Amino acid sequence: MEGKSALLSFPLYFTHESCGISCRGAISNERMQAGNQHCFSDEEQEMAEKIHKYEGAAIIVHYDGKRCLHAAECVRGLPAVFNFKERRWVQPDNATANEVAAIVERCPTGALHFVRKDGAAEAVPDANIIRTTPNGPHYVRGDIRLVSPEGSVHAQDTRVALCRCGASQNKPYCDARHLQIHFQDAATWTHEVAAVQERAVQSQGLNLTPLENAPLKLEGEVAIFNANGEMVFRGNEAYLCRCGASRNKPFCDDSHARIGFNSA
Ligand code: SF4
Ligand code: FES
Repeated sequence: MEGKSALLSFPLYFTHESCGISCRGAISNERMQAGNQHCFSDEEQEMAEKIHKYEGAAIIVHYDGKRCLHAAECVRGLPAVFNFKERRWVQPDNATANEVAAIVERCPTGALHFVRKDGAAEAVPDANIIRTTPNGPHYVRGDIRLVSPEGSVHAQDTRVALCRCGASQNKPYCDARHLQIHFQDAATWTHEVAAVQERAVQSQGLNLTPLENAPLKLEGEVAIFNANGEMVFRGNEAYLCRCGASRNKPFCDDSHARIGFNSA
């Protein structure tokens, strides 16, 4: 992306009147006014799907456009560094490495990461926490591993946004397609938290396993909060609905079989 196109310089959302889809990626005013129904040309789409690297003197910022969901934490937190009006939208040298790192760690989706040249690593949260947004994804923070059903670790992270509507084309990550399908779930469900599980949640690693055409398996100490900030689960194992159809959200109730959920 760097030096090639300003159109994809920042993950803004635009809701197209023609299709009602909120799309990621900046689109030119001309194309918006022309009623273009698609955000990206083939070249732009290809660029949006790359992980981009922005190197500064003391810190390198990596940006995964496929996992970016909203224009918020980074731009509001450090506009001198994260500025969609600039052709190169991340300018790591416009702040100290500490300041850049602190904002990157606030990115809730894991779209942003950093490598510091002094060797300091990203902080791993001391608890595994899932917070759910109304009509949107689960935001997970912790010592996270994405694991295949066969047990191999595909990725490690400290922040991810997980699809819970079933429509993402970047599963298990959210790609904002809940907006396109008008997914509705206020996430105000309540569940009794078992007293036996009321010890401190410690970050001993949280395994996330997306099961084929079935729920997301959680293994490891984790606390889950609804959209009102109320804890609905604290324990070591759970199965989260990711097809969008469960009547017992956030947990799976086997509705995925009823609706023929295809997790591919
Ligand atoms: S904080 Fe992360 S998810 Fe939000 S706009 Fe910035 S890069 Fe995207
Ligand atoms: S994955 Fe949704 S009910 Fe099982």
